[in-house]
Amino acid sequence: MTDILSHTEAGVMTLTLNRVVKKNSLTIAMYAALADALAQAGTDSAVRAVVIQGHETIFSAGNDIADFLNAPPATLDSPVFRFLRGISAFAKPIVASVCGPAVGIGTTLLLHCDLVYAGDNAAFSLPFVNLGVCPEAASSLLVPQLMGYPRAAEALLLGEPFMAETALEIGMINRIVPPAEANALAQRQALKLASKPMSSLLETKRLMKKTQGAAVAERMDEEALSFGRMMREPAAREAFSAFMEKRRPDFSSF
Ligand code: COA
Repeated sequence: MTDILSHTEAGVMTLTLNRVVKKNSLTIAMYAALADALAQAGTDSAVRAVVIQGHETIFSAGNDIADFLNAPPATLDSPVFRFLRGISAFAKPIVASVCGPAVGIGTTLLLHCDLVYAGDNAAFSLPFVNLGVCPEAASSLLVPQLMGYPRAAEALLLGEPFMAETALEIGMINRIVPPAEANALAQRQALKLASKPMSSLLETKRLMKKTQGAAVAERMDEEALSFGRMMREPAAREAFSAFMEKRRPDFSSF
């Protein structure tokens, strides 16, 4: 599992996206590794908090587009959807450190973390429409709630990126720091969490998530079905092929 590094120390499991040469884009194997690690962290009493981090220049370029083209997720049990269900239902606290671009699922996975620390170079984007698909990870529900509809429309319909300051202003992240400090800050905050009574953390997180839990799960499944269908349709095939061929997509006939 070299593209996902996993390390547990002092009650904190740290998962590092480690495919920098491909901008930490997430392959099927990486989703499976993340889903498995979270499942293990959930049951292992030695893990009291989880950190998800990338590199100080890149958090994640989103789904690996070659995988989208060659092996689009076929069912709700696909690793990507298993990971998303796992992170959204994860009972223990999750802290994220985000620097550089966070594209697609690189942004939407953050909606399911409890604390998010960002480098001042963080750039968030949700380019699902530009790829001929639709939002995932319940982002069609959570992003309008966070930003309000007009800004959500810029982010999700136009696919316009937003920077760390905007993410802070809307309450999507907790703090902005120099990129070289983000992972260390996330680690310190996770260690603080790990020192607290686990039963109180679990119950508090459960109560805070209770109102929306069912709606999030339902939206995630609905999005996943649409996403899976749309990935096989001509607009998405054109978008993925254009990315791989390093050209602009031509949507004029879709
Ligand atoms: N899937 C597969 N490969 C990807 C990728 C992705 N999502 N994102 C980047 N890569 C690859 C590039 O193809 C390139 O590979 P190569 O060196 O073999 O040509 C390498 O990673 C470096 O990417 P590059 O685009 O040259 O880096 P950059 O610093 O100019 O830009 C990004 C970084 C993240 C802004 C840009 O790569 C990007 O927009 N990626 C696609 C994001 C996307 O649409 N993701 C899907 C979301 S659902």
